[in-house]
Amino acid sequence: MTERIPTVVLGGTGYVSGELLRLIIGHPHFDLAGVLSDSQPGESIGKAFPHLAAVLSDATFKSQAEIEQLIASRPRSALFSAAPHGASAALIDRLLTSAERAGTRPRVVDISADFRYTSASAYEAVYKHAHGAPQRLAQFSCAIPEHLPTLTTPHVGHPGCFSTATLLASVPLLASGWVEPTLFVAAVTGSTGSGRKPSESTHHPLRHSDLYSYNALVHRHIPEITACAESASGVAADFAFVPHSGPFARGIHATVQATLKSKHDTAQVIGMLREYYRHSPFVRVLDAAPRMKNIVASNYAHLSAVANGRTVAVMSVVDNLNKGAAGGAVQWMNRLFALPETAGLTAPAAGWT
Ligand SMILES: NC(=O)c1ccc[n+]([C@@H]2O[C@H](COP(=O)([O-])OP(=O)(O)OC[C@H]3O[C@@H](n4cnc5c(N)ncnc54)[C@H](OP(=O)(O)O)[C@@H]3O)[C@@H](O)[C@H]2O)c1
Repeated sequence: MTERIPTVVLGGTGYVSGELLRLIIGHPHFDLAGVLSDSQPGESIGKAFPHLAAVLSDATFKSQAEIEQLIASRPRSALFSAAPHGASAALIDRLLTSAERAGTRPRVVDISADFRYTSASAYEAVYKHAHGAPQRLAQFSCAIPEHLPTLTTPHVGHPGCFSTATLLASVPLLASGWVEPTLFVAAVTGSTGSGRKPSESTHHPLRHSDLYSYNALVHRHIPEITACAESASGVAADFAFVPHSGPFARGIHATVQATLKSKHDTAQVIGMLREYYRHSPFVRVLDAAPRMKNIVASNYAHLSAVANGRTVAVMSVVDNLNKGAAGGAVQWMNRLFALPETAGLTAPAAGWT
């Protein structure tokens, strides 16, 4: 039997952290060893996440010093970061440095944007602050698991939720060579996409009965989507990306449209998508329009497509907190430890939320 792997989560009281904890609790090979909270060390985890209290009733958040000691004392460990971008890289660097000094070998999946770039200058151009650990960038690959069969780095940067939904639909289209390399994307996200702390533009009461676009054509994830799409498909494409706030808490629906270079009908496009994802256990290609409620709170992604004349549209739905963050990260961590990629992730969607 495989020895269980001590597992650590950074970004303690955040929404993605909560989803990571839910998945780790049910995972057959990961054991929750510590959860860092900068704001609430020593406080009850169950109080921050009442839906997990039945299982984590006695567990408390740890401080940075305790997490550092933990990582340095276990020969191997799984380290997930769900800290904010700008803070995550420096925190990971500090922990990796003390692990290196102690001779231990943590594997990291960072869910923030800090390891989505290959150069600090590209990161700094978008995020407008210095990168927290530029010397670590070469140790991280950034991709969704379905698009990178062979991993050559010890750690991974998760591309994020909008990117997961968009890339799942776009990469097969580009790789097929069937479309012009300009993709038009309209993607709608739920309010948990903005994290726990409400602001005037993200607070759920202001979003729940409304629908609106934001940062149209200039959203900061565009360079990340463009770079991941090119390395996965081999095609340099332009993404005209328009994100929207949707009136729900969880889930993302993305519609990617492109111009066909030559005639392909709906059945051919759906067939091409199925062929592309034939070895991807979490991606299902449907004949009918995918619906968010069939994937919410799961690690599954549903796709479908329609072609008419020279236009093709691929629709993609994922859960932002799960497949687009915590679930995708666990999928990567499974691979980093040579576990079955599906371990701990096969629970179906709730159906009604
Ligand atoms: N929400 C999504 O759908 C989603 C999807 C994909 C990727 N992401 C990324 O995942 C990360 C977490 O997102 P989230 O939605 O969970 O955010 P969140 O709800 O705002 O939680 C982030 C948590 O990080 C901790 N934190 C805050 N400042 C920190 C600092 N300076 N250093 C260390 N920790 C700090 C805080 O917890 P403590 O005070 O307890 O430490 C905070 O609750 C972000 O980088 C986000 O971009 C989010």
